[in-house]
Amino acid sequence: MSSHEHRFDAAINPYGCSPKVVEAMVAHARSKAYRFYGEPWANSLRERLAERFNLTPEHFLVYNGAGEALVWHFLARLLLPRGRLLTPYPSYERFVEAGRRCAAEVVEVPLSDEAFSLPVDAMIETARARQVAAALISSPNNPTGNRLVDVDTLGRLLKGVPDCLWIVDEAYADYTGTTLVPMVRNYPNLVVLRTFSKAYGLAGLRVGYSVAHPQVSSRLAALQIPWGVDSMALVAAEAALEDEAYVQQVVARIQRDRTDFAEALSQFPFLRVHPSDANFFLVRLDGIDPASFVEYLSARQIRVRRRPDMPHHVRITCMTPPENQMLFEALEGFQRR
Ligand SMILES: Cc1ncc(COP(=O)(O)O)c(C=O)c1O
Repeated sequence: MSSHEHRFDAAINPYGCSPKVVEAMVAHARSKAYRFYGEPWANSLRERLAERFNLTPEHFLVYNGAGEALVWHFLARLLLPRGRLLTPYPSYERFVEAGRRCAAEVVEVPLSDEAFSLPVDAMIETARARQVAAALISSPNNPTGNRLVDVDTLGRLLKGVPDCLWIVDEAYADYTGTTLVPMVRNYPNLVVLRTFSKAYGLAGLRVGYSVAHPQVSSRLAALQIPWGVDSMALVAAEAALEDEAYVQQVVARIQRDRTDFAEALSQFPFLRVHPSDANFFLVRLDGIDPASFVEYLSARQIRVRRRPDMPHHVRITCMTPPENQMLFEALEGFQRR
């Protein structure tokens, strides 16, 4: 991949992590502390997470990203006995693919046509009728960008189907300023997945965590691999949590950028921009040929995300204002053709 490429396709935070995280990693490297094994169960990070969310360390398990938690520890092990997985459509395709490999069946419930909202009653009815073992909801959702559940709707799902394990993936929740984590106190059938990959800017280090009632966490802990998360990732994650002010600043900046970004994109008559609570937008291409549009951008080193099952849509991440400007200029060129 060329280093000149503009990665509007990767839903990462373009501002990166706190400088204090970099300092902590450099200090860890310089001291050669990595000669030693790190913490087998990431206890120190779990204690910090417990303080941050006002829970106990027993609520948390640390993994190599939310992806590892979900794919290997939840889906594979929960569903290998051939249970069914329920998920809205469209949602994050990597997780759905993983579900297909592990589950007897992936049962998909379509989001509403226009606003991509979650049909809560249909989710409950389907979960009951198909006796699903687990359900997975990303909120904000990838690729649609909108939040799918709040305290009220998630409460209805958790109460409506108590014997289903509801997994809520909050990979992009930092951009909304809200979290459903406190609900794990009252619902033993809820697991929330969170990650340092997105707003915390540490995607390549692979660190994330699950939050669940200790009753559930202790069962999942029995499946964990000791020393599974390396010491550099743990050092970075702890330093990132210590500098919460930085993340808040970055999130505020991205929230401002994304308003300007959506407004500017909406000026192009061939782009229909769906509202987003994340840092990317699902955009419908109206009256243009999607393949030549993507080709035009890619000839200018601009990458946007496509998926085969949504041929008339692209997903575009809001990057820094200068990069966004470059995209707008390319779009003007496309319009003038
Ligand atoms: C909805 C969603 N969840 C999870 C992830 C991956 O999280 P992690 O890097 O912690 O594995 C992504 C990455 O694109 C995502 O879009």
